[in-house]
Amino acid sequence: MTRRCFIIGHPVAHSRSPLIHGHWLAEHGLAGSYERVDVPPAEMPSFIARLRAGEFVGGNVTVPSKEVVLPLLDEASATARAMGAANTLWMENGRLHGDNTDAYGFLAHLDACVPGWAQRSVAALVLGAGGAARAVIHGLVARGLRRILLVNRSPERALELAEAFPKVVEARAWQEVAALVGESSLIVNTTSLGMHGQPQLELDLSALRPGTIVDDIVYVPLETSLLAEARRRGGIPVDGLGMLLHQAVPGFERWFGVRPQVTAALRAKLEADI
Ligand code: ATR
Repeated sequence: MTRRCFIIGHPVAHSRSPLIHGHWLAEHGLAGSYERVDVPPAEMPSFIARLRAGEFVGGNVTVPSKEVVLPLLDEASATARAMGAANTLWMENGRLHGDNTDAYGFLAHLDACVPGWAQRSVAALVLGAGGAARAVIHGLVARGLRRILLVNRSPERALELAEAFPKVVEARAWQEVAALVGESSLIVNTTSLGMHGQPQLELDLSALRPGTIVDDIVYVPLETSLLAEARRRGGIPVDGLGMLLHQAVPGFERWFGVRPQVTAALRAKLEADI
């Protein structure tokens, strides 16, 4: 039986997830498919009805429906509930399950690039306060970080996100960011700044300490100006492509019963598409 999976979003044509899952399906010789389906948020309930009727075994949800899908699930994982959003769905015993694998993907990639990073992280600086920031902070807290500084263009969003992690996450002003760089052993950009077609992220890295990890979840381009500048200053740059690759692993395992690997060959395939 061919197992059909999907990525739903609106728009969805730009998604690179079909390349990832297509690679793993071929690698493991599995009879399955992973298809892009453009579903506007208002049409989510009717799409979910197709999933429940057995047309698909599961799939991914991307912008703008990760939050909209949550109340349509029978079972949301603790992570999905904490995040208020699901990106991975599957049917199990007639029930629709949802999880959020973004924090997992962020951590798995960081582990692969900088083994032992959490043990030597004193304070982390997170830029941005949207869904991606929530996932990153969730991951950092799960790994035991106890001091996370958060800055965002709209301060009220930073304050609101910080309230979800009392005593650990501190909302700070964007004007302070240059000084906060010097206090941090890990810096994560979760904003869309620096992405192809978006304004650059203007961040003064003159206080960056050598050995500081600078992780940009943007992956188009692969090396953002932030990462290039971090590299020049003796920081450890970590790009966003790995998070995309790793967040796909748990879903594929659920749908096809095989735990796939994030290999150099898979990465090269994605890099060639960027
Ligand atoms: P996601 O779910 O991908 O995190 P989001 O919820 O739209 O997406 O959040 C985007 C983040 O990028 C936010 O932190 C946003 O800042 P605001 O909360 O002030 O909107 C940030 N961002 C986007 N464009 C920006 C810009 N031009 N300057 C500064 N921050 C920007």
